[in-house]
Amino acid sequence: MEPVAIKPGIYWVGGIDWDLRNFHGYLTQRGTTYNAYLIIDEKVALVDTVKHDLFDEMLSRVKSLIDPAQIEYLVSNHVEMDHSGSLPKMVSRAPHATVVTSPQGEKGLRRHYKQDWKLSAVKSGDTLSLGKRTLQFFLTPMVHWPDSMVTYVPEEKLLLPNDAFGQHIATSERFDDEACWDILLEEAAKYYANIVLPYGEQVKKALDALSTLDIAMVAPSHGLIWRTYFPKILEAYQRWAAHETENRALIVYDTMWGSTERMAYSLLEGLEKAGVPVAIRNLKTMHISDIMTDVIRSKAILIGSPTLNNGVLPTVGGFLIYLKGLRPKNRIGFAFGSYGWGGQAVKEIETIMNSLGWNLPCEGVNIQYIPDEGELQEVKEIGKKLGAMIKNE
Ligand code: FEO
Repeated sequence: MEPVAIKPGIYWVGGIDWDLRNFHGYLTQRGTTYNAYLIIDEKVALVDTVKHDLFDEMLSRVKSLIDPAQIEYLVSNHVEMDHSGSLPKMVSRAPHATVVTSPQGEKGLRRHYKQDWKLSAVKSGDTLSLGKRTLQFFLTPMVHWPDSMVTYVPEEKLLLPNDAFGQHIATSERFDDEACWDILLEEAAKYYANIVLPYGEQVKKALDALSTLDIAMVAPSHGLIWRTYFPKILEAYQRWAAHETENRALIVYDTMWGSTERMAYSLLEGLEKAGVPVAIRNLKTMHISDIMTDVIRSKAILIGSPTLNNGVLPTVGGFLIYLKGLRPKNRIGFAFGSYGWGGQAVKEIETIMNSLGWNLPCEGVNIQYIPDEGELQEVKEIGKKLGAMIKNE
C-alpha cells in the first residue's frame, strides 16, 4: 500500500486491480492498474482517481503522505468511471478542492454524479500554478472520449495523458524498464487496438499538439510509467494512428462441420508458400479483443464463415460488428466460407470490408457443403496471390 515517488514530490497513489479479467468486453488476462498521481507543492493536486472499489487503496496511499483535506485541486482528465469512480468519495475527503476538467468533462461529471461540486473547466494551454510547479492542460477530444484531456507538468517534463499510452497490466513494478518490453508492447498494442483504434486522426492531432512539449516521463492511467521507452511507444502510436501495418496476414474464421476450416488452412498454405507470415484465429478459441492485436499488425485480413440461417455464424457476426466499430483502415480483405443453400455469409463479410474501405482484390469464395481437393487447391492459389500482393504493395 506504499505510494511510489515518480519525481520529487510527485507520487503514484493508484490502485492495482489484480483480478480484473474483463474490461467492458475486453479480456484483461494480466489485470490492470488505475493510476492516480499526487503532486505535493505549495498547493496539492490529485490527478485522476481510481475505480470506485479501489478507493480505500488509493486513499491509504494518499493518507500516508498528506491529510486529504489539504488537496486543493482534483484534476479529472477523463470522465470514464475507471478514473472518476472515486471522485465522489474523494471530494468528500477534500471538501475545499476544485475539480478541474475539460468543458466536456464538466458536462460528463455532472451527468455521472449529479453533484454540485466546485468545478473549473479548462481549455487547451490553460495553466494552474501549484507553487514551484505548474499544471498545463491540453484537450485531446476523442482520445478516446469527448472529454479526454492530458495534464503536463513542464518543470518536471512529465506528461499525465490518462488513457493514452496505457496498458492493462497489474504489476508491483511501476516503470517500463522494470518490466518485460515484449509484454509491454503487446499490451500497449492490444490497448490501442481495442480502445483507441477508431480515433487515429484525433491521435495524430494530439501527438502533433504534444510534439512541442519537452517530455521525459509519461505516466498514463493504466499500467507502467514510461521513463525509458517512451520514444519507442510514441513511434508505435504514430504507426498505429497512420494505420501502418506489417507484411503479414491474419485469417479469422469459425466453422460448423469443418469445411470453412479446411478453406482457412488452404489459404494459410498459400500465404506461407508466398513467404508471408500468417496468424490463423478460430473464433471458437480466441477472444475478439485478442484478435484485434493481430488486426493492427496485419496488412491482409481474411475472414471466413459458413452460412447459417442466411447469414454468418454468430461468432463471426460478433467479430465483424466489433471490427466495424474499431474501423481499421488500409487493409487487403478476402471473404470465404461454405454453404448448403443460400450462401449469404461471404457477401455479408464483404459488405463489412467494403464499408471499411478495404481493397478486395479477389472475389470471395463460397463452396457448397464439402470442398474437394481441386477446390482447396484453388483456394490455396488465392492465398498465394494474396501473399504476392502483400509483399509487393
Ligand atoms: Fe481508462 Fe477511458 O478509461
